[in-house]
Amino acid sequence: MVSFTVIKDEKMNYSNLLVNNDQGICVITINRPDKLNALNKQTIKELSNALTDAEDDLKIGVVIITGAGEKAFVAGADISEFVHFSQEEGKQLSQEGQEKLFNVVENLSKPVIAAINGFALGGGLELALSSHIRLASESSRLGLPEVSLGIIPGYGGTQRLTQLVGKGKAFEMISTAEMISAQDAEKHKLVNYVVPQDQLIEKAKELAKKILKNSPQAISRSIRAINSGFQDQEDGFKTEIEEFSKCFGSADFIEGTKAFLEKRKPNFRN
Ligand code: COA
Repeated sequence: MVSFTVIKDEKMNYSNLLVNNDQGICVITINRPDKLNALNKQTIKELSNALTDAEDDLKIGVVIITGAGEKAFVAGADISEFVHFSQEEGKQLSQEGQEKLFNVVENLSKPVIAAINGFALGGGLELALSSHIRLASESSRLGLPEVSLGIIPGYGGTQRLTQLVGKGKAFEMISTAEMISAQDAEKHKLVNYVVPQDQLIEKAKELAKKILKNSPQAISRSIRAINSGFQDQEDGFKTEIEEFSKCFGSADFIEGTKAFLEKRKPNFRN
């Protein structure tokens, strides 16, 4: 017989992640500090599983992703794993990574906040770029150094960096392979806020708590509508109309509008 505790322990038992669920917030810490939290195959798989767990857990409303230690968020994909790859293997690495992790982050129905606590390079910056909100500690360094290794960003970086900072800055960052400071990243709208290292998680949780006050179904519909505008085959305005209409009559809509008329705060998470 499998007890509930065993199932829960299995879910929480990761070799390269720490997962903490508390008061509606799931904090996922990538925990390979001796390798600057580089994304190896195992870590990508675990991150994908942890995000799916957070998606399925009705008590969770926001996910925060950060890195263990004070040096790195994630220093990129694990170079040692692809050094001998063929073109076919390279294609699979990029395709599977995008499908199983980076697109999952971007399309999660709950907001994902990247709390960048140091180097965010290559796949590390791409993980942050897939997230919905980015915060960085003051000493963080961000970049896509792939061309210095003879490759290009393969986890969505050429697309998502360009969406955030514009074509000119994306070309500059990718072709020079140079890192930029957290302050420059804020200037170029690559991160929303820069805060002292010891306030990073606190600031991320502060944002998460503001999000948790609002309708979970309306938030997930907003994510869908915003993301839709960046899909070639979709019309974001049409998606907005569809998602907007689906809100009407929902339990959250009834609670939100009723609470307003009764001059009280809505309670969406009972
Ligand atoms: N893949 C695999 N291992 C990595 C890694 C990566 N992307 N980034 C760092 N590491 C490992 C190092 O090999 C080293 O391991 P070791 O102690 O077993 O030799 C350990 O993490 C610490 O890194 P180190 O280079 O000694 O730290 P540093 O402070 O001198 O330099 C960086 C920090 C981030 C500048 C440097 O590690 C670096 O350039 N990393 C690669 C960044 C990159 O190109 N990312 C894109 C990959 S596609």
